[in-house]
Amino acid sequence: MDQHLDSVPAYQRQIYQNGARGQVPLVPMHFEELEKKARRKLSATAFAYVAGGAGQESTQRANRLAFEKWSIQPRMLRDVSRRSLKTTVFGKEWRSPLMLSPVGALGLVHEQADALVARAAARCCTPMVFSNQASVKMETCAALLGDTPHWFQLYWSKSNELVASLVSRAEACGCEAIVVTLDTPLLGWRPRDLQLGSLPFARAIGLAQYLSDPVFQSYLNEVQLRPSGPITLNALGVFYDACRNYGGSLWQNPRTRRPLKAVQQFIDIYSRTDLLWGDLEFLRKHTRLPIVLKGILCAQDARLALESGIDGIWVSNHGGRQVDGARTSLDALREVVAEVKGRAPVFFDSGVRAGADVFKALALGATAVGLGRPFAYGLGLAGEEGVVEVIENTLAELDLTMALAGCCNPDEVRSATLLGHE
Ligand code: FNR
Repeated sequence: MDQHLDSVPAYQRQIYQNGARGQVPLVPMHFEELEKKARRKLSATAFAYVAGGAGQESTQRANRLAFEKWSIQPRMLRDVSRRSLKTTVFGKEWRSPLMLSPVGALGLVHEQADALVARAAARCCTPMVFSNQASVKMETCAALLGDTPHWFQLYWSKSNELVASLVSRAEACGCEAIVVTLDTPLLGWRPRDLQLGSLPFARAIGLAQYLSDPVFQSYLNEVQLRPSGPITLNALGVFYDACRNYGGSLWQNPRTRRPLKAVQQFIDIYSRTDLLWGDLEFLRKHTRLPIVLKGILCAQDARLALESGIDGIWVSNHGGRQVDGARTSLDALREVVAEVKGRAPVFFDSGVRAGADVFKALALGATAVGLGRPFAYGLGLAGEEGVVEVIENTLAELDLTMALAGCCNPDEVRSATLLGHE
């Protein structure tokens, strides 16, 4: 029997058994409680960065409402005794259709950041997508993940040499796909961070992929620091944090000013606003890995992606963090799936809070579904164990929802009917 097949109901049973002994889960089951508790525990800047969205956060709210517009049809008297969540992606078998979306600057949330997420993902056999803005370099996380699938998410910087270097490192550490996030050529207008004047990267949080990169490091030798403003207590704090997060010697860092050079270089090089479909050819030439485009929100862009020889499409509005008023990711999913017609896998995220949401996204045609903010809160509240709980809770609910809707596997979910749109 599939080892995980029985383990999901067993997980639920275990929770009740623990409860009988007076032991309750570490992190709240319900997303709203999870977020509330994280708000109390995290620093104001960390919470603002994770919880915040673009503008008035209407897209972020709409992402959730979009799920509520769809209803699942429970079915009776079907044999659902033999179930499996297994899903094949790019020829590789995954435990389930759930993966961890790339989430940057996790160093704000927990000292050990991505390393603990990688450990948790490995324990749950759940694929992890390394963020370009990670706080722990990809090689370290890849080693912790072992055989658990991992992908690398790329922000296309102004330097193609850096792009090529990051991609070749991703290949070397066993990443199985490159995800190019297209929706962030500029950082969205995020009032919660703006109100606090807080940008994690200024403190060298979320720069681990750059700082560990030989091409990026070689650029630092040439950086001329621009004059900074008056030295205030806060500025000293930011400088101290940058020196600490840069790594290496806390004695040498302030003298060489390399942490400041790294921050300035990152800000200058981070992204291109003139990237075109034709540029994807460069990536194709530099990697044999499947290329997935993240941030696609309409049929036209899905068509262009397929015409560009792309291997996978990831429907996402970045959790409502980029364009306030953008359409919901779930709404775009239907349109993209209809356009792609099975020619490439279609991944999905934005607004997924529980297993029933994963079910709905699958039923609307997603191949696999990404979890974002919930695991970041799990990390903040209880480190590795918190992430494990968030993943296992989601999978347990997905498995039960599937069974109660009369489905035995994700393929059956994909042909299940959802009711009540519009
Ligand atoms: C993100 N997301 C993101 N995406 C990406 O491609 N690269 C990145 O570095 C990040 N960083 C990041 C940080 C934080 C704090 C959040 C919340 C999100 C977007 C992420 O991959 C995913 O699309 C969203 O998290 C999905 O929305 P929900 O489900 O979290 O609301």
